[in-house]
Amino acid sequence: MSHILSTYGRFPLTLVKGEGTRVWDEAGNSYLDFCSGIAVCALGHSPKVLVDAISQQAATLIHCCNLYHIPQQEELATLIVEKHVKLPGKVFFANSGAESNDGLIKSARRYGHANPQADGSPRYEVLSFKQSFHGRTLAGISATGQDKVKEGFNPLPTGFRHLPFNDLDALTAAIAPETVAIILEPIQGEGGVNVATPEFLRGVAALCKKHDLLLLLDEVQVGFGRCGDPMAWREIAPELEPDGISWAKGMGGGFPIGAFWLSDRPLDRGLQSAPENPATLSSLMGPGSHGTTYGGSPLACAASLAVLKEIADKKLIENVRAQEAHIRETIALWNHPLVTEVRGKGLLIGIGLDTEKMSTPEGKLPSIHLSAELIKSGLLAPPAGPATLRLLPPLNVTTEEVDQALKIVHSTLTSLQTSP
Ligand SMILES: Cc1ncc(COP(=O)(O)O)c(C=O)c1O
Repeated sequence: MSHILSTYGRFPLTLVKGEGTRVWDEAGNSYLDFCSGIAVCALGHSPKVLVDAISQQAATLIHCCNLYHIPQQEELATLIVEKHVKLPGKVFFANSGAESNDGLIKSARRYGHANPQADGSPRYEVLSFKQSFHGRTLAGISATGQDKVKEGFNPLPTGFRHLPFNDLDALTAAIAPETVAIILEPIQGEGGVNVATPEFLRGVAALCKKHDLLLLLDEVQVGFGRCGDPMAWREIAPELEPDGISWAKGMGGGFPIGAFWLSDRPLDRGLQSAPENPATLSSLMGPGSHGTTYGGSPLACAASLAVLKEIADKKLIENVRAQEAHIRETIALWNHPLVTEVRGKGLLIGIGLDTEKMSTPEGKLPSIHLSAELIKSGLLAPPAGPATLRLLPPLNVTTEEVDQALKIVHSTLTSLQTSP
């Protein structure tokens, strides 16, 4: 009998080893891994640069806590702000995506105290979107726009409302005096791989300016090259200037690390960093406002530095774009009756399924059934919602590996097809 809490319905597979895009089970069978630990293993499994960085740092200093200065944090924050975000701001290092989002939500609450409603009471409401996913902490599930994650956890933290994604009119109508922020995934991952339209993102940014709301981007799944540009929002609306961003997953390549960034913009949008009023958005999270024992340890930061350096040195973003084009072209050529569309950006690809034409056992979700069948043919690829298969290979995946994986997807789809 297992002593693990049964919070996951796991696939019947035990992985014991990984190398590059391949993993092996305990019986020695190998699989192509297009799950990558759900968009985590950006460089594949056990890449030398990451193993070396972790080993060297582990032999030097694993942990020392945030009561002291940590040079690896400074280096990583500088890299993220100057080379990736390219907007003035400050970074807080956490351990996961949910935690990073909690940091953004806490920052929004502070902003609502600093810039309150007309009657002086704080603004506090964060608007988010249906099908969104923001993590499993209490604030994370409150922000998440999916009922299934909230069942049985009432009362949840209040101050969240969920609106239809890509619907600017609904959002405009929803903004209330107590609203303080809008949080969104530029590309919804868990909710089915739904890409925000450029008009929507631009409209959200304009509403944030007009109503003095924080624009918070959850890039936990999509950030640092998974979707092309290290900042996924730049793939959609490059001129956007968010107020806060959260990351995790791929930034550590498998080593747990998360982060959130807050803009250095003046607290009062009307003031352009006036020297007599130096207060910035990032300064709202001052000493004592937030903390973590593990977040930003020397080991976690060394791992992330190695991953981000390798992505840049090996120009992996070019590979991400080339492989996306190759995947899209190949699937379009299939003209497969079970494929309704291909969504996503870069190497976060969602294959929409016509579930009416697919044989699925009673009580099983079609996408989960497909993922289980793919495992039998040697491919790991996770579902995203009930009718979408997700492809999340490492950013350094080769064309040969993509071809092998797509061949398995094609033949498995055909084997599950019930009508032409
Ligand atoms: C967009 C998004 N935000 C937040 C999270 C939560 O991240 P974590 O599981 O690291 O807490 C996820 C995880 O899938 C995610 O996809």
